[in-house]
Amino acid sequence: MNDQAGIQQARPDRVTLDPAERVADLKPRLFGSFVEHLGRCVYNGIYEPGHPLADAQGFRRDVVELVRELGTTTIRYPGGNFVSGYRWEDGIGPREQRPVRRDLAWHSLETNQIGVDEFAAWCRLTGSELMMAVNLGTRGVQEALDLLEYTNHPSGTTLADARAANGSPEPYDIRMWCLGNEMDGPWQVGHMSADEYGALAARTASAMKMADPSLELVVCGSSGSSMPTFGEWERVVLEHAYDSVDLVSCHAYYQERGGDLKSFLASSLDMQYFIDTVVATADHVKHKLRRSKSIDLSFDEWNIWYLDEHRESGEITEGWPYAPRLLEDVYSVADAVVFGNLLITLLKNSDRVASASLAQLVNVIAPIMTEPGGPSWRQTTFFPFATTRRLARGDVLRPRISTQRYDTAAHGEADLIDSVATFDSVSGKGAVFLVNRDVEASRNVAIDARSLRATRVVEASTLADDDVYARNTLADQTRVGLSRNETATVTDGVIEITLPPVSWTAVAFA
Ligand code: AHR
Repeated sequence: MNDQAGIQQARPDRVTLDPAERVADLKPRLFGSFVEHLGRCVYNGIYEPGHPLADAQGFRRDVVELVRELGTTTIRYPGGNFVSGYRWEDGIGPREQRPVRRDLAWHSLETNQIGVDEFAAWCRLTGSELMMAVNLGTRGVQEALDLLEYTNHPSGTTLADARAANGSPEPYDIRMWCLGNEMDGPWQVGHMSADEYGALAARTASAMKMADPSLELVVCGSSGSSMPTFGEWERVVLEHAYDSVDLVSCHAYYQERGGDLKSFLASSLDMQYFIDTVVATADHVKHKLRRSKSIDLSFDEWNIWYLDEHRESGEITEGWPYAPRLLEDVYSVADAVVFGNLLITLLKNSDRVASASLAQLVNVIAPIMTEPGGPSWRQTTFFPFATTRRLARGDVLRPRISTQRYDTAAHGEADLIDSVATFDSVSGKGAVFLVNRDVEASRNVAIDARSLRATRVVEASTLADDDVYARNTLADQTRVGLSRNETATVTDGVIEITLPPVSWTAVAFA
């Protein structure tokens, strides 16, 4: 089966599943996403009154259907960089009275036609949990408390009663709150030093927990592992805020640079380094402060993003457009393979990564695209996310992998294949997710599931294409999709399968 041009394979790679290698229970919150007031994510994305498929509130029903199919669990909102200049009260009350403002982060016009009430209603339509971010760029403790009171207090206060008057007598009971966004980044409105931000985050978190000690608060970590303050930022911020926060955020985006596909395919090694560093730093602060609780990670922005190209494109203009086309990356098969590998990495680290948000959801670096007045469709990245979400259950298992290695310019040596598995001992159902990073050759893989007594392959689906840069577009919305992998067989608990070059595969077994 092996193509001669690739790395020679004398015997099949081996992926050994062992219940003793259990990482954690599968955490549904790893399948979160992110909706920001940015470009056409909200306006002319999830919300397009006048579209033939819009409901009475102006939400596109086709988009809601696709989000349900994708299977998002939490949705972070309303930013992102946008939140650092946002006044949440602009987005409540009668729509015709809402102010129109400039959004400095994305140089756009914000009409406030969607605010927290509409977004909470939209989350209910999609079956997702709302994860809220507060503005710690231009605002502080009081505004965060006001928003918390508006969303979560049952009744009998001015803000809770305002929510009821605006149509929602039941509180939203939002559990997860982000204390600002990327405050380490010089691009952030109200950017601060780690000391300044750590002190503000600690004050805000303490006050929010006075209102409700059971909230889950996420303090801003680094906006990338290449930030000059990476590591030190986390240390300083956590030394300020350790007692009052529960999670620290990580953000990471990857892209192919300079035609170096081999390095790009190994991007998850950087994500692993990111996670290891933040866990080590959080645990260092834990021991330094002599605390017993641990701080887990909220990987609340991750994706493929061709940021360099966007920076050079001049798409963020001097004007103040409404719903401009910004950051509308069109993803290839190779992008989806790296993307699937990032999701594998998040699952592999789910003992410490408690939550994650694919950034973003619709039109803006998104798995779902829409055309105003027109159709909506799935990008290549839609498939690994939706399939992993659908098949993963029970315990996450870290497989032992035996494969060949290859050199990358950006990340050193990398394994040719990567994988994670899940197994539910109650139903006896398991799933293995794999990538083949070999750019030239198929890889034959033996998945040793004897310890799980696998007898039957229920489903084997692969994302691959002769053209690794094939994409789904408005003109050809279904060019790329999953295909059944016909090579999968099982003998005595060992599943043998062939993975095409540059591919992502899911195997479900019973
Ligand atoms: O997701 C796009 C942007 O990336 C977000 O607004 C920001 O938090 C990050 O830099």
